[in-house]
Amino acid sequence: MIENVTFHDHKPQALSLYDAVVAGLSKSDKSIPPKFFYDQRGSELFDRICEQPEYYLPTVERRMLSSLAEEIANLTGTGRVLIEPGAGNAAKVRLLLDALRPSAFVPMDISFDYLKSSARALAVEYPWLPIHAACVDFTHSLPIPREVPNGPRLLFFPGSSLGNFSPSEAGGFLRLVHDTVGSGGMMLIGVDTKKSERVLNAAYNDAAGLTADFNLNLLQRMQQELDTDIDPEVFEHLAFYNDEEGCIEMHLVSTEEQTLRLNGHRFEFKKGETLHTENSYKYSQTEFINLVTENGFNEVRHWVDDDGLFAVYLVAVA
Ligand SMILES: C[S@@+](CC[C@H](N)C(=O)[O-])C[C@H]1O[C@@H](n2cnc3c(N)ncnc32)[C@H](O)[C@@H]1O
Repeated sequence: MIENVTFHDHKPQALSLYDAVVAGLSKSDKSIPPKFFYDQRGSELFDRICEQPEYYLPTVERRMLSSLAEEIANLTGTGRVLIEPGAGNAAKVRLLLDALRPSAFVPMDISFDYLKSSARALAVEYPWLPIHAACVDFTHSLPIPREVPNGPRLLFFPGSSLGNFSPSEAGGFLRLVHDTVGSGGMMLIGVDTKKSERVLNAAYNDAAGLTADFNLNLLQRMQQELDTDIDPEVFEHLAFYNDEEGCIEMHLVSTEEQTLRLNGHRFEFKKGETLHTENSYKYSQTEFINLVTENGFNEVRHWVDDDGLFAVYLVAVA
């Protein structure tokens, strides 16, 4: 038994794939929220996407975090409670732990089995660190387990995950973070920058086809978990940069006219009609600073890599 890790299932209510699929396919512009990508296979596919040369985000962010860890710790101080929504395999936090020396770590994720195994591995590697892993849906709440010690908090949100929210939803999430970290609280956040469309389009259309598999896995998940006749073979991956919106849009395109049956419901797809599965908003420095300032934070410092590909911001509750 590993002594320094506890698990907390907050049973996120918004977790029903069935409800999300019925609601999303009933709309005229069909869509399903990206949180449903992450069953065990989806989490594993995402880890493999992070190793693809075109998907520059994790490589650049990791390099930045490794070289900035001491500087960040000088600005935050040590001994904070460190909270990471969407922690996944907890790879990036490892780059900071020795410098930040948190009093406790609270990794949160919707993919609970995956979170449990990554939290256990982390607990073995860092025996000095109390870990309280929680299954939550961060689009709804950020519940902190009762065992977590008092003291100043730092929320870590890498991977440009904020980009999966629309800018107005991102504002709502930032206010939730603001209330969760409270007075004296800080947030360290990785944000993808606006850049050439060629680089962005390549990042979400890797040559190995892993982003396509990740996108299509949503349909396989529906096939396995729901009473439906959906056939993933008649859909294709589509990802492109929408310059006007400033985001990558990811869709599943129906390659044929088809009717999908689900528990007595029938959903018609025209040939070429899409199911919208994810947005990934990119932020200029001014856009991001305005967003955090409007939602209760002040910038402490920010860093951009030499090629302008990715930015890391440290902000504090105003
Ligand atoms: C894009 S990955 C990023 C993983 C990691 N933070 C990183 O930067 O490499 C998103 C992670 O957030 C989790 N996730 C996605 N939506 C979520 C939600 N609504 N609530 C909690 N976790 C979520 C996924 O399971 C996955 O582990």
